[in-house]
This record gives sequence, structure tokens and C-alpha cells, in this order.
Amino acid sequence: MEVIIQDSAVESCHLAARLISKQVRAYPQSVLGLATGSTPLPLYQELIRMHREEGLDFSKVTTFNLDEYVGLPRAHNQSYFYFMQRHLFQHLNVSAEKIHLPDGMADDIPAHCAAYEAKIKEVGGIDIQILGIGSDGHIAFNEPSSSLASRTRIKTLTEQTIADNARFFNGDQSQVPRHCITMGIGTIMEAKVNLLLAHGSGKAPAVAATVEGPITSMVPASILQHHERAKVFLDEEAAAHLKLHDYYQWVYHEKPSWQKI
Ligand code: PGA
Repeated sequence: MEVIIQDSAVESCHLAARLISKQVRAYPQSVLGLATGSTPLPLYQELIRMHREEGLDFSKVTTFNLDEYVGLPRAHNQSYFYFMQRHLFQHLNVSAEKIHLPDGMADDIPAHCAAYEAKIKEVGGIDIQILGIGSDGHIAFNEPSSSLASRTRIKTLTEQTIADNARFFNGDQSQVPRHCITMGIGTIMEAKVNLLLAHGSGKAPAVAATVEGPITSMVPASILQHHERAKVFLDEEAAAHLKLHDYYQWVYHEKPSWQKI
């Protein structure tokens, strides 16, 4: 894993955005895996700025989102479809037919999940996957004890995640859906590059367990230790519990120029 620590969340997200912009400029038909949540918002804002001010072109890009709540129609203001339109897609020139999110209203959820997996394969797989991390170490909605080989499927949210996400439902936990459709950990592991972003002290224990703890389904993000190209973008607060904090800083600053982002 490559651990990149920046002073602030915004700086960390700007660096991640630079990596994505390089990918999209080099391969305009790139396939991006996208995440919702508060964490990637500064990253999305920077991509929007690059699109507006630097002509970063998303017209040939294909996107797949990690997850969606079951039972929320796409027009619901807390659906992840709505979130993505509001915070990213309506500001970029991604073609509507190239945008993919699981459909939380699908009649046949297992068939829908299998079709989602097939679609990812059909376009050649995900080039760069953006990931947040839950305070319990989840990636996408793969909660602790998820199979490390899992594929896109329905999951039940933990009480912790329901409590964490209640802030988006006027603080009312009873409004938070109990189920979601999520890419599996096996699906995420097939992305060519994984970018895990984490900001704030609330994520520090999960980040330390992910980067420096044992690989275990109890910390689903820890499987990224097995990924060939996993990059972890942190602010100082999220990095605060890392034993090798200074070493990661050293490695980053001593990178040969051709390796720099
Ligand atoms: P957050 O959520 O970005 O809102 O902190 C991350 C996650 O739960 O994966």
C-alpha cells in the first residue's frame, strides 16, 4: 500500500483528483469507480473545476458506483443516484448511458447484481476505484465479516453505519434504509487501482487497522494490503494512529520525479 498524507482533506483530495485527471487525459475511455459520502466531495469539486477551467473531458468516461440503498427511488434526495447527480454528474459531461449505479428498486436483486458485475467485465473492468472507509473499516457497504471474496449483492447495514448515516436523514435512524446493494470486496479488488480516501480523527482507528493491522474480514478495508496498486490518501487527522507515519511521509517526499503524482 502507498500511504500519502497531506495536511488537509482538501489537499489530499486535490492530489487524488490529479491522479484521476492524468488517467482520463491519457485514456479518455477510462472506467472510473465512484463513491458517495462526505469524503470524496472535495475530490469531486476539484474534478468539476478541472472540467470547467482546464477542459478535462469526461465524454468517453464510463462510471460505476459502489453502492445504493435498497428501497429508495432514484429521485429520493438521499439515494446515491441523486447524490451523484447533484455533486458530480450534472456538472460534468459524462454521457448518461455511461453512468452506472446499482438500482435499489430492482425487482430481482440477485439478477440485477449479476448483471452489474457482467457490465463491469464487459467494459474491461474498473481502471481507478475511489473508496471511502467507514468508522468500522467497511469499504462500500461491505461491513465487518463480509466475505473477502464477495461480489455485488444485497447487504444489511450495521447499526453503526445506520447511526453514522442518520445525519443525512435529519438525524432519524428509523429513516435510514436497512439494506443496500454493494459491490463486493472481490469486485473492488479487481479494480486496477484503488484509491482509499479518509479524513478526520473519526477514521484514524479504522485507517490504522486497515494499513498496519492484520488482514481480516473484521476490517474489510484491510484486504487492500493484498492489492497490487492501492493508494491511501489521508489528512493528518486520519493518519494520526499510524505507527509508520513518518516513514510514509519520507517515502512520499523521496519519490523519484517520474513516480510523483
Ligand atoms: P463518509 O462515509 O465519506 O461519509 O465518511 C464513508 C463510508 O462510510 O464508506
